[in-house]
Amino acid sequence: MEKIVIVGPSSQILGVKIAQELGIESINTDIKKFPDGENYLRINIEDETLIAGKEVIIVQSTGPSASADQNARLMELFMMIDSVKRMGAVKIIAVVPYLAYTRQDKIFRPGETQFANAIIHMINYFGIDELYSVDVHAPIVLNECTCKAINIDSMKLLADYIKSIGARNIVVVAPDKGAVERSGAFANYFGENVPVEVFEKERDVKTGEIKMSGALNLKNKDVVIADDIIATGGTMATAIKLAKTSGAKKVFAVATHALLLEQAKYRILKAGADEIIGTDSIDNEVCKVSLAKIIADYLK
Ligand code: R5P
Repeated sequence: MEKIVIVGPSSQILGVKIAQELGIESINTDIKKFPDGENYLRINIEDETLIAGKEVIIVQSTGPSASADQNARLMELFMMIDSVKRMGAVKIIAVVPYLAYTRQDKIFRPGETQFANAIIHMINYFGIDELYSVDVHAPIVLNECTCKAINIDSMKLLADYIKSIGARNIVVVAPDKGAVERSGAFANYFGENVPVEVFEKERDVKTGEIKMSGALNLKNKDVVIADDIIATGGTMATAIKLAKTSGAKKVFAVATHALLLEQAKYRILKAGADEIIGTDSIDNEVCKVSLAKIIADYLK
């Protein structure tokens, strides 16, 4: 079956690269906001037979940025699915590297919504055949998918990048217990005996305030702090400060989805990071690692 990539507005570089890796055509979208705030999207084609009968791969991360928030990105995703379905796509594959709302996977306070599940239910409603995401914060939410759903691991790619910039004597530090498993798998990519240390993090569920503690011996070590998401940078900056006071020589702040909201860059660099490293799940200045090949390999 012929395939085509729809490059979503939030994943312009990644979408084109995936199409190039697959050796297939790609097209983009026209988007705007109506005066009342409603989103508008059309697939940028004049001839709808370009879609009819094809396998359509939609690439759209749903992270917030200066130009659109995650709600707009999700709406665009739904609009693209709806549009290609109407035009007669035979198979629809959604590549959503950053899946918004997956941090709302648990009920922390009475009255809350487990909205991570609801987002998957919405994707189910629009109806796709396969969903590919990357380092999903709570992979368990993918169990809600009624279609095939794959959580791609970007850790090897990030580890390869860190090795390529000459990090030595590496210790991987997990900024909280939730990151321990991921950090352990990450450390293995640096070699068998690379240690994983963990700081204790507590977040006040009402105020969001973070407290972190722990004293490690990191003297002369290159410390890699790995998280799935950097949002405001609070977690990362606090972990970096602790790593520095524990003797770290260099500190690399690594995240699959470096959203870098508000003053995150300032906070992280001011805390003492040598470099911030993310993937092109989020199209910004720290996306030094491309997911295009690994995603294309899954799609082949
Ligand atoms: C939380 O459990 C996540 O894994 C990240 O640690 C968190 O989202 C980072 O948020 P922030 O950068 O705002 O501290």
